[in-house]
Amino acid sequence: MPVQFYIPENQVPLEMHKVRVVQKLNLLPVGERLRAIQEAGNNTFLLQNRDIYMDMITDSGVNAMSDLQVASMSIADDSYAGSETWNRLKAAVKEVFGVDNVLPAHQGRAAENILAEAFVKPGMFTLMNFHFTTTKAHITRLGGEVIELVDKKGLIPQSDDPFKGNFDLKKLRATIKEKTPDKIAFVRVESGTNLIGGQPVSLENMLAVCDICHEFGIPSVLDASLLQDNVYFMKVREPRCKYMDTKSIYQLLASRFDIIYFSARKLGFSRGGFILSTDRKWCDQMMEFVPLYEGFLTYGGMEVRSIEAAAQGLLESLDMDYISQGPEFIEYLVKELDDYGVPVIKPAGGLGCHLNCSEIVPDIPHDQYPAAAVGAAVFIAGGIRGMERGTMSEQREPDGTERFAELELLRLAVPRRVFTLSQIKYCADRVKWVWDNRKLIGGLQWTMEPKVLRFFFGRMKEIGYWQEELVAKFRQDFGDSL
Ligand SMILES: Cc1ncc(COP(=O)(O)O)c(C=O)c1O
Repeated sequence: MPVQFYIPENQVPLEMHKVRVVQKLNLLPVGERLRAIQEAGNNTFLLQNRDIYMDMITDSGVNAMSDLQVASMSIADDSYAGSETWNRLKAAVKEVFGVDNVLPAHQGRAAENILAEAFVKPGMFTLMNFHFTTTKAHITRLGGEVIELVDKKGLIPQSDDPFKGNFDLKKLRATIKEKTPDKIAFVRVESGTNLIGGQPVSLENMLAVCDICHEFGIPSVLDASLLQDNVYFMKVREPRCKYMDTKSIYQLLASRFDIIYFSARKLGFSRGGFILSTDRKWCDQMMEFVPLYEGFLTYGGMEVRSIEAAAQGLLESLDMDYISQGPEFIEYLVKELDDYGVPVIKPAGGLGCHLNCSEIVPDIPHDQYPAAAVGAAVFIAGGIRGMERGTMSEQREPDGTERFAELELLRLAVPRRVFTLSQIKYCADRVKWVWDNRKLIGGLQWTMEPKVLRFFFGRMKEIGYWQEELVAKFRQDFGDSL
């Protein structure tokens, strides 16, 4: 339960930590912000950190470490094989998940590579609530196909459904029968479903997926990268979890899923990746790929300091004071914007706040990249860097035509334990200003469009001079203020 304030109107999420190390931020004048975004080709990935006030591009590898994490890094035991650091990581995994078998990988997508190498053969299917970019890429690279089975409620932008990441269980059963169990490499549940807005999956739904997998003899896999947010939502939104402690939720999941993997850039507030299983046979099946792609079994391509930090970070993922901070700040930001009328994905999920740009700038067609245009406007307005999750992030069809995204989103990620509430309020304020001035925003066109992963490297320019007009309006409204 959040700490209750005496004066109800003063109620805000209260940080249960204090800041002991700080990093200076720059907030450039608006003209400089215009220069920076234009030099970056209107692609927020190409901005320089020194030009950014709030970096909300991701929650990956940018979460703040605790004092205990920093302290743990100083005792890291650097040896190629048999490091004490690895033993401490295994002990932390045992404490949190109750599991003995652990494999290391240098980050989440490397764990996905190992999983795919071990299970996916050409012509096989992998069923999941929703894909994540790197997961899908590894599966399709090996000739597998991804089928998404998220309940259709998950794709409605504004709803009050508490678990929009849930599987459609009927469809799961039907798809297994249609494709036949021997053709299914594994079923993957993504906790805190990233690409639909960090939306959680209920405990009940996860366990039901495991039951179906066991019935048909198909491996069940949990992507636990965003599990700490998901566990928070289970505790506050799912009646059966209210009186369970966090550890019993993590351990129940580990006892039911065949395999769990995660990015420690998210779960564990550190870097790296891990694969776990209660049953040794699954780890044995994947083990040979670890030295091949990652490194020896006791470091897996990770720097030992990151493994120490992940071990301590995992223990902190049991602590509601820590794991509530991200979702509570996101909920605050979403509510601020929603109350003002700004279209946002609802209910608030983990990971970040998602602006629904199809509704903010409905007149900008998909092929003028509305979400990227709003992203540029938010940067000009506040030095705030978000991530385009719309048509710019799609890849063109083989015949060169555009594949239009279902949702044109700008994601404003909220890295854990990083921002203060005044910064979150500032972000809300500048987004409200963008909303009020949305009529000024125009489209973008490519000046350099790479064939693959264009959202990472591509460059665009404004159509017309709307960005200069936005800057003029900013000066009119804010005078000399930054
Ligand atoms: C759900 C999910 N799975 C896997 C990954 C990949 O992890 P990494 O970035 O550590 O490779 C991510 C990263 O954002 C993610 O959100």
